[in-house]
Amino acid sequence: MKKLNIKEKLLNIYTLKNYALILPYAKPYWFRALLAVAITMPVGSMDAVIAWSLKPFMDVVLVEKQTGWTMYIPLLIIVFSVLQALFTYISTYMNTWVGNKMANDLKRDLFHKLMRSDAAFFDKSNSGEVLFNYNNCAESACSGLLNSMKMFSTRLFSSLSLICVLFYNSWQLAIVAVIVMFGALYPLTKARKRLKKVFTLDMNVMAELLNCYNETFGGNKIISAYNLRDYCKARFVKVVNTIFELSLRMVKRMGIIAPSMHVISSLGIAFVIWYGSYLIVNHQITVGNFASFITSLVMLYNPLKSIGNNYNGVIMSLMMVENVMNILHEEPKIKSKENAENLPDCNGDICYKNVCFEYEKDHPVLKNINLDITAGQTIALVGNSGGGKTTISTLLPRFYDVKSGEILIDGHNVKDLDLDCLRRNIAIVFQDNFLFGNTIRENILLGQKDVSEEQLALAVKSACLEEFIASLPDGLDTVIGERGVTLSGGQKQRIAIARAFIKNAPILILDEATSALDNKSEAVVQQAIDNLMKNRTVLVIAHRLSTVRNADCIVVLNNGEIVEKGKHEELLALGGEYAALYRTQLS
Ligand SMILES: Nc1ncnc2c1ncn2[C@@H]1O[C@H](COP(=O)(O)OP(=O)(O)O)[C@@H](O)[C@H]1O
Ligand SMILES: [Mg+2]
Repeated sequence: MKKLNIKEKLLNIYTLKNYALILPYAKPYWFRALLAVAITMPVGSMDAVIAWSLKPFMDVVLVEKQTGWTMYIPLLIIVFSVLQALFTYISTYMNTWVGNKMANDLKRDLFHKLMRSDAAFFDKSNSGEVLFNYNNCAESACSGLLNSMKMFSTRLFSSLSLICVLFYNSWQLAIVAVIVMFGALYPLTKARKRLKKVFTLDMNVMAELLNCYNETFGGNKIISAYNLRDYCKARFVKVVNTIFELSLRMVKRMGIIAPSMHVISSLGIAFVIWYGSYLIVNHQITVGNFASFITSLVMLYNPLKSIGNNYNGVIMSLMMVENVMNILHEEPKIKSKENAENLPDCNGDICYKNVCFEYEKDHPVLKNINLDITAGQTIALVGNSGGGKTTISTLLPRFYDVKSGEILIDGHNVKDLDLDCLRRNIAIVFQDNFLFGNTIRENILLGQKDVSEEQLALAVKSACLEEFIASLPDGLDTVIGERGVTLSGGQKQRIAIARAFIKNAPILILDEATSALDNKSEAVVQQAIDNLMKNRTVLVIAHRLSTVRNADCIVVLNNGEIVEKGKHEELLALGGEYAALYRTQLS
């Protein structure tokens, strides 16, 4: 039990550190942030003026039946209220300004982090989680934090000045009132711990909800084809219901806090009235003192109750800060090491030396892979589905890192090379290539600026895209729908090939690049691929063996192991797995 407490404390210190870490985001805007907080001081303190003015009003007007200077009190109240309103407006404006600026900076950094995340991260997370953690969390963290800061600073100054009024009127009563106030705040200290678990669950479910929308988007055709509307709806309703249950659990845990604060503060007021009557009767305080005191006390306790009610939001934003900061401080596993080497003139010699790899612990996917590829050669990887062909190719651009062994390019371990430089030297065409929702031109250039129109035209021609692009009214500047939904498989594939031409990398990976195509479009795409393969080191993965016959070396992979290696004729003569595969495909 005791051990757990220490751990909890450490956790709290650790999270405090996280809150401090968000401060750098406020730094560029410190002046406005400070102004936003500073301006809340008079706003809060003005409450006290109203409470304080009751004393002379009661004593002079009600008891002594005179007016004198107290005639100006209503005027004073109006002036202070107008000022209070004005300051509140300015403070809200400043807070929103700073909050949004901070949120933007934070989101920018989170996005940067997301861009540098490795493939394993994307394997493990879903888009809803990413959307929630990288966008919603950052926004709520900043705006929530500033709002609660504003609330607390307003309350703090209002409370401090009201406490002054309390002491001005009667120190005996004031001491009682302050003790009760701290008693009323006590339940809050227990809140964080109670909420933490529910919030963590809540955040996960929120992410799941976002994911429901994303999957509806990405899977709309499957949903229609398999009549999955009811199934998806049921899933959605389940998530929504979970959110409902969690909210109720939150209220069960938190709902008790505000009422208990209410009871404690009412006890305080009751005690003050009882003790106050005694003080008045004994002429220790005036009626005005008492009226002013009670007013300040009610003004002091009421916002306390609202803090109790808004405390959920405060804790929520603190936890979001924690969440966001954890993301920011997680280093990607795959990154350039310090003093990483550059590879200005890459030949394209590739060597896999005793490479072992696993996605999950103790589930080896590649076992002791040895491959030697001379620059300019074409190596084909064939074998049963799930054998590890794609995995071998993804290790080269370091989407994942080997578990043991090494991969060399031109004699350099890929881990020693600068990551950007490494990837600049490798072009990849997948089976399904992602297209961005803008023009064909931008999809081919992918941000490369120093490409001339001639080079682009050559790439388009070599990728056998000329005819297709000529048929479009806007040519290269035709906008393709999100993810390229308006294009056929063959057209998408040729755009991907044109990209590879523009990239002009010495190493080329073709992962089932023609597998998803019908025979007619395959022939055109194959032509484009043949053009692309010239003068490059090529790692080609294909399940249609007819496409890899001419490779310099064919590697047969089975369950993560190389079982055969050689030229087409050699492997046929061997009469092993390749020959068997080839025969089944021929028939
Ligand atoms: N991202 C991943 N996470 C976990 N396991 C994976 C991942 N990708 C592939 N695998 C597993 O690794 C094995 C090899 O997959 P893969 O390299 O895609 O095979 P191939 O391309 O030969 O069909 C398979 O058993 C597959 O289930
Ligand atoms: Mg594959």
